[in-house]
Amino acid sequence: MQLKAKTIGLVTTLSIACGPVWADPDTDQLTINGDITIITEAAAPSHMEYIDTIYSGWRFRSDETQAVQMDDFDNPGMLGVENALAAWDTEEGSEGKSCASCHGAAESLAGIRAVYPKWNEAKGMVTTLEMEVNNCRETRMGAEKWKYTGGDMTDMVALISSVSRGMPVNVAIDGPAQSTWEAGKELYYTRTGQLELSCANCHEDSYGLMIRADHLSQGQINGFPTYRLKNTKLNSVHARFKGCVRDTRAETFAPGSPEFIALELYVASRGNGLSVEGPSVRN
Ligand code: HEC
Ligand code: HEC
Repeated sequence: MQLKAKTIGLVTTLSIACGPVWADPDTDQLTINGDITIITEAAAPSHMEYIDTIYSGWRFRSDETQAVQMDDFDNPGMLGVENALAAWDTEEGSEGKSCASCHGAAESLAGIRAVYPKWNEAKGMVTTLEMEVNNCRETRMGAEKWKYTGGDMTDMVALISSVSRGMPVNVAIDGPAQSTWEAGKELYYTRTGQLELSCANCHEDSYGLMIRADHLSQGQINGFPTYRLKNTKLNSVHARFKGCVRDTRAETFAPGSPEFIALELYVASRGNGLSVEGPSVRN
């Protein structure tokens, strides 16, 4: 892999003492519970100009971290799914309804994670799963909204993801969603912060780079929410975006903002063809 000027800057900035070290994603295969086959490598969608093959972030993790995701009894993210299953059946709000009152079993939402963010005709905008959950809470249950990146919300999104595990991500980027997708693409390639780095500088130009103990991935979101061993909780997509933008020492956008919604649609589309994995485990 060729070192680009910006990448040299990145390496220096992150003060790697002995020069850049690159490693390909490993060749391990992911099957969860010996049962759910996860596609962690696929041909890049045709809209991607600079990458031929897309990889799940799982392929960049150590064997130890990978193993935690291979069995639901070991995956601490599944505790969030259990919490959400209890919430799913709990009646709340002025209408005296639970999610189950209308949706039945959580499995009825199988396939939903794979196609979000998605154009919502009634709202006339692209919405995320978090927005759909809050829409149901507010307008259909008469309950209070959950905080966008709060624990209740992230647990619920983990539950909704878990019933789609193994299904290929397939977000639509054309039709009414196209202008949002283009706005997200623009953000992805815009350099920000004191470090003047874009998402692409790290996750497209430099994936494979070892940054101290961390192996830089393509920054895919097919595994979200992710249980991070570092902060020992489930992390939502927008919380992760916020962290990455902060690392460039830029002012970040708010979770749930139009910018992050657009960025989420764009980043999700870079993973079209990988399996839904959430809740995944990362360091
Ligand atoms: C009063 C009935 C009702 C309740 C209660 C309700 N929903 Fe919904 N929900 C709907 C309807 C109707 C839709 C519109 C899409 C559809 O037709 O399924 C929807 C859509 C959704 C979607 C988007 C699905 C899609 O097909 O794109 C999600 C996700 C969702 N609900 C989650 C939840 C969760 C989580 C709860 C509990 C916190 C909940 N809903 C409570 C009726 C309800
Ligand atoms: C300075 C380099 C850098 C920049 C710039 C950067 N990231 Fe990251 N990002 C990282 C590192 C390091 C990690 C943790 C290791 C990994 O998964 O790649 C990470 C992780 C991620 C993950 C988690 C991947 C997974 O599988 O769990 C996502 C998603 C992500 N970044 C998205 C973004 C987006 C979107 C942007 C632009 C707003 C961005 N990143 C900008 C360095 C960066």
